[in-house]
Amino acid sequence: MDYTSLGRTGLKASVMGLGCGGHSRLGISQGKGEKAAIEVVHAALDLGINYIDTAEAYGTEGIVGQAIKAVKREDVIISTKKSLAKDGKQVNLRAAELMQGLEASLKRLETDYIDIYNLHGLKARDYDYALTELVPALERAREQGKIRFIGVTEAFVEEPAHPMLEMALKDERWEVFMVGFNLLNQTARKNIFPETRARQVGVQLMFAVRRALKNFETLKEALGELAQTGQIDPDRFDPEKPLGFLLEDGKADSLTEAAYRFCRYEPGVEVVLVGTGSIDHLKANAASLLKPPLPEADVTRLKQLFERVENYTGN
Ligand SMILES: NC(=O)c1ccc[n+]([C@@H]2O[C@H](COP(=O)([O-])OP(=O)(O)OC[C@H]3O[C@@H](n4cnc5c(N)ncnc54)[C@H](OP(=O)(O)O)[C@@H]3O)[C@@H](O)[C@H]2O)c1
Repeated sequence: MDYTSLGRTGLKASVMGLGCGGHSRLGISQGKGEKAAIEVVHAALDLGINYIDTAEAYGTEGIVGQAIKAVKREDVIISTKKSLAKDGKQVNLRAAELMQGLEASLKRLETDYIDIYNLHGLKARDYDYALTELVPALERAREQGKIRFIGVTEAFVEEPAHPMLEMALKDERWEVFMVGFNLLNQTARKNIFPETRARQVGVQLMFAVRRALKNFETLKEALGELAQTGQIDPDRFDPEKPLGFLLEDGKADSLTEAAYRFCRYEPGVEVVLVGTGSIDHLKANAASLLKPPLPEADVTRLKQLFERVENYTGN
């Protein structure tokens, strides 16, 4: 595994992080049991992955808590989060409820501190509320040693052009961002990564593959949708073999490999989260992320093809 510095936190994080949410939730969403999910976490640790992202809302904190008993606490970086939404509805989460959530996360994770505690899926319209009501409570929890760093994750599907993170860039209290980015939606290159790099905000990346970049069938649908909504030029790709050029001459072994490599080498990206319930996928993705960047000409082609996409995430 390769390791990187996470913004100004001083943490040395693996470039591949294990995402315990998304459509797989360590396989729990596909009906796999807790034992199998713990094995996925153990396989990640065996690969040298020391960065694990979970959340109250995923129902996987307890699994992570069980799994990390296999290593020393200080050898793993845990990111977890509390949502301002409940049962899909936005709520005015009070500081006291946030702190109750933090205590419950600590209990499920069986730890006395969380490395990065994030507000989960914060929307632009709730940003000012979060700053005045919730961030002071997070700062107190940090003083008490319950959390080490304060983070925020965006609601990428609802806000695919990052308006909340643009607001958060103006406040130095955030130490880590979770940013949505992939080869289909590259908007963060314009309005987020230059600033996170300048201000040394740590970046964990989500949505590298998601649904649209799992295989060529799902990609076909995605590109069809993008062409239909006028976000890409239908004359610039082969509808029967979209992005087939990425695999020509053995340049990449699979679409998912190309998608993860594209993200890893984007300037400003530090940890690429990989969500999976499959140990085979986990191992393949670790190998992919350790390969060199895609050829420059292919990266340029991807930048040009998707440069107008602002309203799509590949979800
Ligand atoms: N707002 C937020 O805070 C927020 C929102 C979304 C996600 N997240 C975090 O970001 C993490 C990453 O997002 P994500 O889980 O959507 O991850 P992702 O890595 O972009 O996509 C994962 C999906 O691709 C599939 N996959 C992975 N490797 C594959 C392979 N080699 N071949 C074929 N299919 C493959 C997985 O299914 P299999 O299980 O079959 O491998 C899974 O459905 C989440 O787990 C979560 O921790 C946070």
